[in-house]
Amino acid sequence: MNDKQLAAIHAAKHVQNDMLVGLGTGSTANFFIEELARRQTEENLKITTISSSNISMIKAQSLGLNVIGLQQVNAIDLYIDGADEITPDLNLLKGRGYDLVMEKLLAKAAKQFFVVADKSKLVDCIGTNFAIPIEVMPFAWQAIKKSLEVIGGIGDLRPNVAKDGLSISSYGSLIFDMTFDKSMTEGDLNERLNNIPGVIEHGLFYQLASAVFIAHDGNIEEKWR
Ligand code: 5RP
Repeated sequence: MNDKQLAAIHAAKHVQNDMLVGLGTGSTANFFIEELARRQTEENLKITTISSSNISMIKAQSLGLNVIGLQQVNAIDLYIDGADEITPDLNLLKGRGYDLVMEKLLAKAAKQFFVVADKSKLVDCIGTNFAIPIEVMPFAWQAIKKSLEVIGGIGDLRPNVAKDGLSISSYGSLIFDMTFDKSMTEGDLNERLNNIPGVIEHGLFYQLASAVFIAHDGNIEEKWR
């Protein structure tokens, strides 16, 4: 078993009968979905899920999990997802994929949000290994880019995989990948990004995680907020 799978299986132990559970997106979240489906079958649990992406929804349904839409509820019990970066304060960078809007909605709606990862995701500060993804209204991208540059952002619209066009999020938006001066606190950056008109959502998940479960070399370390 690899460390991502170990962290995901550890987190799945927190799921109880009758819970409404948010499903993340990515390779670690996939291990969680598989474990959840296993527990549902083998322990005869009644679990309802909400997915952060179409790809996770399809996987969950194919394994027999019941998936409902966020429009049907105003809160969820538990959300479990991976992350791209995790700081000592449990701030996160997420959204290297195309689903950060839904991921942040689930993180905010969850009574508890557990992050599962291997130790490669631990960093001293957000932006160490990746630029911050910022999902924006397509027609306003030029004005938004200027606003991002005013607060020190350096970067551009994300190209698609073939590099012959732009990346489009699951909700039809464009995505900037931007770096910022590390002297700005994560709290400040979060507030400034939140205040730019036309920014739909960004990948800095500031003080949203309840706990992170980090697996390294077969052991689990839990960090709670
Ligand atoms: C997707 C995410 C993922 O959780 C993050 O990219 C981690 O992925 P993986 O578990 O495959 O390492 O934020 O938007």
